Amino acid sequence: MGSKLHWSLILALAFIISFFPSHSEARNQAADQEACNPVDLRSLADFKAGIKVDTSGRLSKWSGNGCCSWEGIVCSNATGRVTEIRLPGLITTEDSIFQSEMNGFLSPSITSISSLQVLDLGGLISIGGMIPPSIGFRLPDLQKIYLFGNRLTGSLPDSIGKLSKLQELQLHENSLSGSLPPSIGNLESLNQLLLYSNEFFGPVPDSITKLRNLVDLDLHGNSLSGKIPGKIGELQGLKLLDLSNNHLTGEIPVSITDLRSISVLYLDTNYLQGEIPFPSSCGGQMSSLGFLRLSNNNLTGRLPPNFGCLVSLQRAALDNNKLHGPIPSSLGNLSALSELYLGSNRLSGKLPCSLGQLSRLIMLNISHNKIKGQLPQECMSSLHNLQTLDLSFNRLNLTSFPRWIAQMPSLSRILLAGCGIQGEIPQFLYSTPSPIQELDLSANNLTGILPGWLGKLTSLYSLNLSRNSIASNIPDTVINLQSLGVLDLHSNLMTGSVEKVFEIGSSFLEDGTLKHIDLSDNQFTGGIESLGLGSQASVNHLNLSRNYLERSLPNSVGRLMSLQVLDLSHNNLSYELPESLGNVISLEKLKLQRNKFTGKIPGGFLNLKSLDELDLSDNLLVGKIPDGKPLSQFPRSSYSRNAGLCGKPLDPCTNS
Ligand SMILES: *[C@@H]1O[C@H](CO)[C@@H](O)[C@H](O)[C@H]1NC(C)=O
Ligand SMILES: *[C@@H]1O[C@H](CO)[C@@H](O)[C@H](O)[C@H]1NC(C)=O
Ligand SMILES: *[C@@H]1O[C@H](CO)[C@@H](O)[C@H](O)[C@H]1NC(C)=O
Ligand SMILES: *[C@@H]1O[C@H](CO)[C@@H](O)[C@H](O)[C@H]1NC(C)=O
Ligand SMILES: *[C@@H]1O[C@H](CO)[C@@H](O)[C@H](O)[C@H]1NC(C)=O
Ligand SMILES: *[C@@H]1O[C@H](CO)[C@@H](O)[C@H](O)[C@H]1NC(C)=O
Ligand SMILES: *[C@@H]1O[C@H](CO)[C@@H](O)[C@H](O)[C@H]1NC(C)=O
Ligand SMILES: *[C@@H]1O[C@H](CO)[C@@H](O)[C@H](O)[C@H]1NC(C)=O
Ligand SMILES: *[C@@H]1O[C@H](CO)[C@@H](O)[C@H](O)[C@H]1NC(C)=O
Repeated sequence: MGSKLHWSLILALAFIISFFPSHSEARNQAADQEACNPVDLRSLADFKAGIKVDTSGRLSKWSGNGCCSWEGIVCSNATGRVTEIRLPGLITTEDSIFQSEMNGFLSPSITSISSLQVLDLGGLISIGGMIPPSIGFRLPDLQKIYLFGNRLTGSLPDSIGKLSKLQELQLHENSLSGSLPPSIGNLESLNQLLLYSNEFFGPVPDSITKLRNLVDLDLHGNSLSGKIPGKIGELQGLKLLDLSNNHLTGEIPVSITDLRSISVLYLDTNYLQGEIPFPSSCGGQMSSLGFLRLSNNNLTGRLPPNFGCLVSLQRAALDNNKLHGPIPSSLGNLSALSELYLGSNRLSGKLPCSLGQLSRLIMLNISHNKIKGQLPQECMSSLHNLQTLDLSFNRLNLTSFPRWIAQMPSLSRILLAGCGIQGEIPQFLYSTPSPIQELDLSANNLTGILPGWLGKLTSLYSLNLSRNSIASNIPDTVINLQSLGVLDLHSNLMTGSVEKVFEIGSSFLEDGTLKHIDLSDNQFTGGIESLGLGSQASVNHLNLSRNYLERSLPNSVGRLMSLQVLDLSHNNLSYELPESLGNVISLEKLKLQRNKFTGKIPGGFLNLKSLDELDLSDNLLVGKIPDGKPLSQFPRSSYSRNAGLCGKPLDPCTNS
């Protein structure tokens, strides 16, 4: 439940402003302290007793027997009974917002407050317990239930269906489980049903389609299974339908085209199959649909030829399905479209020229498909707002880097991996107006050198030129790449020293920005003595495997305190392993096999508690493996073919 409470934490962090109720306090004290209904008074006292901690201080001021004047309590003038409990976690006043917390459990006594219309204990973070099973029988006037953002467990009681006046049911972000009671379909006044981020399982009851007043239906992030109710289209007022991140199977019901008010439709990350049934015609079906996600399903068939009739579409994510056939040219009619994700399907044919009409487009991702042929330059070059273009791994056979791509004024992320680009890295990239932050030309057929002018692309964050045939040194100018975070040059024909990379950005920032360095599978030579001496405190992945590196692994490696992966295997490194490597407690993978390391394994390695992959095989190590976890837990093969290691997991050391 990773997203749980996310919203409240963000707000809490954004406004670190203390809140103290001030002026209203005195007035409340003076307010008439006429005794309230004794049943309500007892129930509220029970509720208060269930809460162990209240960081807002509201409950500590509940005293005496005039509960109608207590903060957060509203009574009816006519009957004197309590009608509202409003104690939301987020406390907003004119000039501050404060995230409060109540820790404890929800007393079942609240079901005795028989005139209750509003129960708002939303976002209090730590209220546990259950929704009282009798809630539907005993609180027939309930209109609004806000219990979201707590730690409630148990199921949604069947009696909930008795609440014929209920308009809003917000139980999201709890740990509720069990199946959804079919009685939910009796909530004829309901317009908002938010049950997301819980642990509900079983089917979505068909009865839900009887909720004719429903506007928002959000069940995402549960474990619901079975099919989407076939009559879902009868929810004519529905604006938001989010069933994503469940285990739903079967096809998307055709009736979905009847949702004439739908604005947000998220069915992604399920096991849905069959074809996309909408829009079946071009007569204004689903004409309000702005946000569509069908990603990560098993959808087949073609993209509907009428897809371009969804006139309000702003974001469409259909990636990671099994859609085939061409991209329909009607897509060019989607004039509001800003993000289009079609990656990891089986789409074929050429890119339609009409895509160029999408002047609002910011993100276009068609990677991992079977799109063929030349890119229609004359149309595509008018995508003035495009920021990200990912055409990687198609059958484009571009032969050369398209010059017009480098002329797009807003483009910051260019991903053209596996596009059959040949020749040298084109010089025109140097004078591009695009503020390039990410350049991925991996798995192409680039030859020639890594040009010195690369150092001028100072916005560059990620450079991936891996799996090409680039043959040169690393140019001195790389030191100027002050924003670089990811450098992947693996599997090329690079020569010379790797040490320049350790200086990247060092003249600009103390800690550096570099996180991921992969120079493996090249022909680099020389030592790595300056490793850790520059500003590499942020590096978490360093792969220098399969080169011709020699001499020692320096003590300064112990300064790389963020390192999670260190792969120096298949080189010619020698001397003893530095004890300081034991300080890098973030290390998860350590691969030093096939080198010439000598001496003993340092005892400090026992500090590497996060280590889950270790390979020291094929070295010249001797002596007893330091005794204890994690070293003793690895297989014998982690230590094999050394000069003379012994001790767990290898054979015991003999005493001589
Ligand atoms: C209840 O009475 C108070 C004070 O007499 C008044 O201000 C308030 O509007 C009344 N509320 C309703 C719902 O009648
Ligand atoms: C997708 O469909 C195929 C064939 O219909 C099936 O074998 C596969 O298990 C399905 N995968 C998922 C994730 O539903
Ligand atoms: C939509 O696109 C199709 C194909 O590109 C085109 O023939 C049609 O005129 C367009 N419709 C509108 C309303 O723009
Ligand atoms: C494009 O889509 C693919 C597959 O859906 C995904 O793996 C990739 O990260 C996306 N590219 C970008 C730049 O977001
Ligand atoms: C790629 O395009 C080039 C030039 O247009 C052509 O010579 C080559 O045969 C094409 N390769 C493939 C695999 O289609
Ligand atoms: C660079 O590209 C290759 C091949 O396309 C890919 O396997 C690798 O994960 C990419 N590197 C990074 C750091 O994303
Ligand atoms: C281009 O590189 C791919 C792999 O990256 C390789 O399969 C292909 O043969 C190469 N083509 C040419 C023309 O060098
Ligand atoms: C390091 O690079 C080599 C060669 O490219 C690769 O085989 C290996 O899996 C990489 N190591 C890690 C830990 O990713
Ligand atoms: C390691 O060094 C030795 C001698 O210094 C040399 O013969 C051998 O080729 C080197 N091996 C590698 C993988 O660099």
